[in-house]
Amino acid sequence: MKLWGGRFTKETDPLMEAFSASIGFDRRLWAVDIQGSIAYARALQRAGILSPQERDTLIRGLKEVAQELEAGDFTFLPTDEDIHTAVERRLREKVGEVADKLHTGRSRNDQVATDLRLYLMGEIPLLRSHLESLQEAILARAEENLGVLMPGYTHLQHAQPVRFSHWLMSFFWAFERDRERLGEIEQRVAVLPLGSGALAGHSLGVDRRFLAEELGFRAPCENSIDGVSDRDFVAEMLFWAALVMVHLSRLAEDLILWSSAEFSFIQLDEAYTTGSSIMPQKRNPDALELIRGKTGRLIGHLAGFLTTLKGLPTGYNRDLQEDKEPLFDALDTLRLALPIAAGVVRTLRVFPERMAAALDDGMLATDLADYLVRRGVPFRQSHRLVGQAVRRAEELGVSLRALPLEEYRAISPVFGPDLYEVFDHSRSVEARQSEGGTALEALREQLAQARRRLSSPGV
Ligand code: ARG
Repeated sequence: MKLWGGRFTKETDPLMEAFSASIGFDRRLWAVDIQGSIAYARALQRAGILSPQERDTLIRGLKEVAQELEAGDFTFLPTDEDIHTAVERRLREKVGEVADKLHTGRSRNDQVATDLRLYLMGEIPLLRSHLESLQEAILARAEENLGVLMPGYTHLQHAQPVRFSHWLMSFFWAFERDRERLGEIEQRVAVLPLGSGALAGHSLGVDRRFLAEELGFRAPCENSIDGVSDRDFVAEMLFWAALVMVHLSRLAEDLILWSSAEFSFIQLDEAYTTGSSIMPQKRNPDALELIRGKTGRLIGHLAGFLTTLKGLPTGYNRDLQEDKEPLFDALDTLRLALPIAAGVVRTLRVFPERMAAALDDGMLATDLADYLVRRGVPFRQSHRLVGQAVRRAEELGVSLRALPLEEYRAISPVFGPDLYEVFDHSRSVEARQSEGGTALEALREQLAQARRRLSSPGV
């Protein structure tokens, strides 16, 4: 069935049919398409375009079509260009001519934009709960490993000692921002295009506020042209998905590195690793590599779709059909990547002794500079003096801790015998008591704050 045959005399080129069809990927919109049509039938009746009987016939027919689709009994025909066409074609087969009244004042332009928004309104709570499970896993492992110290890195070089939990929690906050962003996007998704018609609005008195309420939208869109053209909500979801993946990818990269033999800070559970077909000893971090790899694809979806949008003239253009594949792929990917990442975090083994063994004296050089600061040396100078000590220790082939006091005093008489107290990684960590720092109390406070945030639904 074609929804637009009247003025045409020639057949469409079969290649064009194939090129144009979106049924292969938009059929997943069937439930929201039918939901939208049921609400629309009600609105048409309220506007006096359908009798109550006609409305009920249409709604009954739509529900039967839904049952067929639900049960997998629905036979798609080669002529079903998209899900809207397929549903309407089947509805007509079921209820006859009255089906022709359903599309009164409606265009596929406002219909498809409504469907996609409704679809997202269903997906967003699922994504949110996956994100929250991951945050919960992070928080639980952080609470469990409070006593574990490890090297903190900048430029992937030893920087300062930190708590393993502190590193882990750094991801909690990235995901917390993602959770906040999702709530903001959700608000903008829940704006209703239906009743915009093709672009200019509805001429037959449909009540858009009624439609919005029926379908769970916050409000009708303010401008019908914007209503059918706007895909900002798709771009925002794609950005959101890409950024969540970037966060997951960074987490994956740390864990891949730390599970290597050279680090051995952690071990990934067998459930998330694979073996090699030739090297029996292998335990490859494929789950994390796939997260890292798929991130590229999701970034591509965002860049690709923004490119689709950038030159469009005002109004609906068929280019907009290109919104669905990247969106569906991005969200499908996250619906796997998030629970997999949560599983990895939940099951990984932590090797505190390996992390402790990687701590060295060089990582305490800042603490040594702080020692001089406490004795009144301005920081820039103390930094230089400790730098000299590092160089001297290197020359003598010893660690900072083993550099004799005379050597320190030759660099600056401010150094006293108590300088050696600095060479204690726990002490260094405990000194970082500032809010958000790695000291135990500060970290406990952070964890409590995180717990409170996670249990407050209204972000
Ligand atoms: N399948 C189209 C889409 O996904 C909806 C149909 C609108 N087509 C049209 N020619 N107005 O955007």
